[in-house]
Amino acid sequence: MKFGYRHSFAALAAALLATGASGRPAPADDVAVEADAAARAASAVTAMTTDEKLSLVMGIIPAPLKGVKVPPEAVTSVGFVPGVPRLGVPPLTETDGPLGISYLQGARKDGATPMPSGPAMASTWNPDLLYRVGATMGAEARAKGFNVLLAGAVNLVREPRNGRTYEYLGEDPLLAGTLIGASISGIQSNHVISTIKHFALNDQETGRGYLDVKISEAEARESDLLAIQIGLERGSPGAVMCSYNKINGVHACENDWLLNKVLKQDWGFKGFVMSDWGAVHNTSSALHGLDQQSGAQLDDAFHFREPLRDAVRSDPAYAARLNDMARRILTAIYARGLDKYPVKPGGDVDWKAHALVAEEAAKQGIVLLRNERGVLPLARTAKRIAVIGGNADVGVLSGAGGSQVHEKEGPALAIARGGDGPRARINSEQYHRSSPLKAIRALAPQAVVSYRDGRYVSDAVAIAKSAEVAIVFANEWRVEGADVPDLTLPDRQNELIAAVAAANANTIVVLQTGGPVEMPWLGQTAAVVEAWYPGMRGGEAIASLLFGETNFSGRLPLSFPASLSQLPRPVLDGRTGNETGNIAADRAPETPLVVDYSVEGSDVGYRWFARQGQKPLFPFGFGLSYTDFSTDSLKISGLTATVNVHNVGQREGATVLQLYLTARDGQVRRRLVGYQRVTLQAGASQTVKLPLDRRVLADWENGKWSIRGGRYSFAIGENAESLGPDKTVTLQPMRWTDR
Ligand code: BGC
Repeated sequence: MKFGYRHSFAALAAALLATGASGRPAPADDVAVEADAAARAASAVTAMTTDEKLSLVMGIIPAPLKGVKVPPEAVTSVGFVPGVPRLGVPPLTETDGPLGISYLQGARKDGATPMPSGPAMASTWNPDLLYRVGATMGAEARAKGFNVLLAGAVNLVREPRNGRTYEYLGEDPLLAGTLIGASISGIQSNHVISTIKHFALNDQETGRGYLDVKISEAEARESDLLAIQIGLERGSPGAVMCSYNKINGVHACENDWLLNKVLKQDWGFKGFVMSDWGAVHNTSSALHGLDQQSGAQLDDAFHFREPLRDAVRSDPAYAARLNDMARRILTAIYARGLDKYPVKPGGDVDWKAHALVAEEAAKQGIVLLRNERGVLPLARTAKRIAVIGGNADVGVLSGAGGSQVHEKEGPALAIARGGDGPRARINSEQYHRSSPLKAIRALAPQAVVSYRDGRYVSDAVAIAKSAEVAIVFANEWRVEGADVPDLTLPDRQNELIAAVAAANANTIVVLQTGGPVEMPWLGQTAAVVEAWYPGMRGGEAIASLLFGETNFSGRLPLSFPASLSQLPRPVLDGRTGNETGNIAADRAPETPLVVDYSVEGSDVGYRWFARQGQKPLFPFGFGLSYTDFSTDSLKISGLTATVNVHNVGQREGATVLQLYLTARDGQVRRRLVGYQRVTLQAGASQTVKLPLDRRVLADWENGKWSIRGGRYSFAIGENAESLGPDKTVTLQPMRWTDR
């Protein structure tokens, strides 16, 4: 990417704003701000002592671990980097995102706004909403005294069993990249640095500290790297967090190709690379592109302290790098205005407004997967409703790990899921204080709404039989540091659903899952709703959608495979049964763990299904509504498409126009090339312009993007499988570099 491109994007966005075309404030990073930041950083570095520079390039966990004294200005969190008070450089106070301000396994009790999970946010296909979510999280970070938010999580869901799927934004680089860029812009609008992470290809948790991803440059550039590249262009994050894993034999945080060549040289990244916590193995990482060691107590040594000082003394290459590392960190600090807008804990938060943003994200992100005989929306006149399972009486599920967020009162329910010491604190299945049962009761005051926890199938069946409608909540909890072994719903919930569905023809299943799950009971149910982890107002959002107070508009950002046998890797690599899920404790096996991503290459998710001619259970992009839409008159001209969309149903609703490349010279090739969420009144129509990202049409060949001349077929899809008529155009060959 050329920085100039991003700047012209920023200028364009500012111009749009001036005309009222977008609800976003102008991005803070205009050309002048960036240039000024770089100039100030360069001059500050010349005024700094070696000690001052060294103190900027190593962060600690602000806790008395490994002899580290906690500085008084540190805030309880995961990261702290001292500032340079003499030069007015503030310390970096870092907290985890990306779904709100982390609760730190209970070490923080001040509460925050828990947002819906990543797939829920991605199901909105709504960058403007993601910007608002980001702005909300950034405001809370600032109010709590943090000026760095470890957010921007955008690893592709290449491995649907990944324990962190709930933090990420699905399987498509264009969708995930554009959404993460919007979220990062929102965060940084608060004069807070956001990261984008985890760079790159840390797409499974099993063996994450040592697994070696095998992938070609082209395959990486056209998939996971493209999501990050688009996120950088759209969001301009101050920092990139490199990941734990190896790529083609070299750890990401010491990977010269990844950090120096791709990120800094080809994409022109001007900010700094910080390591993931516990991902640094040596001092020479500095030469290979790492600018800052984070949470240094988790590594085997403070590589960027004494060993780096020694290297700087004896080797001019290290001395030059130390200047560059400090300059990059300062550039990010100045560009985001961290020095001019200092953070202080105890700031005001508009909790009500933030809760509304979380609720809106849930309403737009929950996906209707099945609705037979119009069983939904539920009639307000229903007399008897049975609600079963999922702890729906107390709250909604959340995902666990560093990203866990809670309101001030803490979780409504925490179920211990094993492990010792710190792992036991993480292995805790927690629920937010938003009870779907209460919310359903509030919307159906005329009905008797009974609840059973679902532990006894016979009892659940008995109440289902006596009700007009049975709503079964089924949960699948995920946690950082461990992948799920398969895609079944745990705890015999499949059995419960099948039994209830056999007892009541109007059985509605509400799923709260971290990623896709198999649904052996699908055909027996009347309706299925995917609520993901819906955040602090999830219960209210679910009820509002079930009763039709809000129309469904979510669309899946990832495919639901019909079975594991459809995946490029039916068996998850590296599971030995001995994983602790704690990267500090898990040791690399004697035989290197190689995960071969060249099987699917850049054909992640739906692209793979199309290539294999396989039908998933639910395709990428799928989602139903209470109204109907039709599209016509698709035209492609250059890199812009136009299409007409009509709301042909009975009520207002939103749809997502999804434009796919379907074939190249007659060969199947499926790629999302553009999208736009559109809200229409019943009977209304709109002509929508969709810009195509040319990189999605291209191959990466010999160091360049290359569009082969030939015939390219496009179609508007209701999803990646149900495609409208093809429009075929001839494209001339085109080649270009990122710079
Ligand atoms: C995670 C990061 C997180 C960091 C700090 C790591 O284990 O991979 O996403 O930001 O810890 O908590």
